[in-house]
Amino acid sequence: MHWIKVQDVGDERGAGEAVTVFRVAEAEIGQDLSRQLQSLLQVCFPGYPDRSYFKLPPHFRYVAMRSGVVAGQMGVELRVIRVADSVVRTFGVVDLCVGESERSRGLASMLLAEVTEFARACGMAFVILFADDDRLYARNGWARVRNRCSWVKIDNHTTLGLARQVDPGVMMVKAVGNRAWPVGDVDLLGHLF
Ligand SMILES: CC(C)(COP(=O)(O)OP(=O)(O)OC[C@H]1O[C@@H](n2cnc3c(N)ncnc32)[C@H](O)[C@@H]1OP(=O)(O)O)[C@@H](O)C(=O)NCCC(=O)NCCS
Repeated sequence: MHWIKVQDVGDERGAGEAVTVFRVAEAEIGQDLSRQLQSLLQVCFPGYPDRSYFKLPPHFRYVAMRSGVVAGQMGVELRVIRVADSVVRTFGVVDLCVGESERSRGLASMLLAEVTEFARACGMAFVILFADDDRLYARNGWARVRNRCSWVKIDNHTTLGLARQVDPGVMMVKAVGNRAWPVGDVDLLGHLF
């Protein structure tokens, strides 16, 4: 497996091993890591399906490990979307979660900082996500937007149809270039993650 180590985080508790953050391509995730990710996702999101992704696998993930155990994870979609007439390159944050014993120490914020930096390096215009609770994201530079969106409805590996021009009420964006978030209807060109 080809892991890219992106960060070593000192252990501020002064005991045990530090957290190491890796970026890994989804296609290269093996069974053992996949099982660990699935159990973390199922603990963090009640009702999560019996697999390591909700609708479709993300393109890559950030995985935070402590002593060989997954402490947190964040999926990332590389998603080109259309807003009105403009085509916009984005990264989309999916299923960010941190194990209960690891929370409130800035781990999720650090993963968000990593994806922001990587998005900038890759020439993305925005990092987008969908969240009811905006506390973590507002603190880390995301803003709520109310554009109407269209997306492909997928449930349990089945395409159900299209949602058209609906404000999902949960979209947030962070600019990583110098472009302002455009006005107009959003075509997500895929599922809502
Ligand atoms: C949300 C979550 C990833 C935060 O991880 P973390 O490493 O504790 O995050 P940070 O330490 O960087 O920031 C913590 C802050 O996030 C905010 N926060 C807590 N739960 C949150 C949630 N479910 N959604 C958004 N923000 C949240 C709080 O403001 C919190 O501050 P506090 O510790 O003073 O209460 C973690 O609580 C979690 O996995 N929750 C369950 C899964 C989930 O709801 N994920 C978000 C999906 S959109």
